[in-house]
Amino acid sequence: MIINRLHAREVLDSRGRPTIEVEVFTTDGHYGRASVPSGASTGRHEAVELRDGDKSRYGGLGVRRAVEAVRGPIADAMIGQDVREQSTIDELLCQLDGTQNKGRLGANALLGVSLACAHAAAAVTGIPLWKYLGGERCRMPLPMVNMISGGLHAGGNLDLQDFLFLPIHASTYSEALETTCAVYRSLAGVLKKHGHEGALVGDEGGYGPKLSSSEQAIELLLEAYRSAGIEAAIALDVAATHFYRDGRYYLQEGGGRVVESGWMVERLVRWCNAYPIRSIEDGLAEDDFEGWLELTQRLPKVQLIGDDLFVTNPQRLIMGIDRGLANAVLVKVNQIGTLTETWRVLTLAREANYRAIVSARSGETEDSTLADLAVASGAGQIKIGSVARSERLAKYNQLLRIEEHGLPFAQWVER
Ligand code: PGA
Ligand code: ZN
Repeated sequence: MIINRLHAREVLDSRGRPTIEVEVFTTDGHYGRASVPSGASTGRHEAVELRDGDKSRYGGLGVRRAVEAVRGPIADAMIGQDVREQSTIDELLCQLDGTQNKGRLGANALLGVSLACAHAAAAVTGIPLWKYLGGERCRMPLPMVNMISGGLHAGGNLDLQDFLFLPIHASTYSEALETTCAVYRSLAGVLKKHGHEGALVGDEGGYGPKLSSSEQAIELLLEAYRSAGIEAAIALDVAATHFYRDGRYYLQEGGGRVVESGWMVERLVRWCNAYPIRSIEDGLAEDDFEGWLELTQRLPKVQLIGDDLFVTNPQRLIMGIDRGLANAVLVKVNQIGTLTETWRVLTLAREANYRAIVSARSGETEDSTLADLAVASGAGQIKIGSVARSERLAKYNQLLRIEEHGLPFAQWVER
């Protein structure tokens, strides 16, 4: 069970950008491997992803420095550790880096090691990762699935980043997936009918048509639900941080206008009255606490998720809980950089009665650790992107494998 070798390499993610992959070997001949995801609409408070900055390779996005960190100082510290001691390993990683934001060795280097150790530990123990990490809480998550992409994820002109389908009436995970694919197919027909044939897909596999407004995207999605005969439930990821500057929101839709936080809140309230919206992520920017408080008070029955707001950071989440901001947290392993800290956020959320949604990034690989983590934590929801592109399907398919073990399914419960 003792770590005797660490290896790291540069591989490519779903956008053709370098990312780090780590392998951990133990004295008894077991090993674990993990590769690290990467975001596009990143929050200011996220842990730092170390990139080479050498413009002559991959436009400066190479991760050779992170690879060197694993092969050098991190390997030196890890060799001799018991691979099953995840919290000791993660603490050592944080100490070794020594910074608040993990910018010295890189959160990408640290996370690769942290997750590869978990895989190696599961291998040593001879049980699947979800079972090794989980316990009584294991359950199949409800997926929240990207259908139309805007914002920084697609070439369209929508301010909002994701328009998602929530299969709230499904009673099993595989039924949820089947319904999702029916909506995805139906939406292709609806887009074609409205003259958006050949709309390319965005980074997460959702369609990226050129539409005139977010309302239009919502209407098209509702039409797809109707023609597939599926009862509607919509989730939005506004990703508002990305059009927020100096206390104001800069909207592009409708010729461009600059609005205040109160206007954003009013619009979301209006949309929730007009449309079957059950969940809104990052309806306001990461540091617009006043706006977040107002939104949370105005929409108590809607799931309000903090992504850039909390950045999977225990301190940020505690701050938000204390101030009464949002009622759910998006959980992305690479926003914080170790498994133990991710776990802490999941525990804090549960204790505060905040919902947790385990999430992929827009840049992913075939690594499906996320699926195991979602099941093991019992979080109840998962956000992977759409049902197209193999880096997304790697996770959906892993969940189908896990489902065969007969775990309970986390059905949607109204707030
Ligand atoms: P990102 O976006 O992975 O590009 O940061 C995902 C999200 O905002 O939920
Ligand atoms: Zn988001």
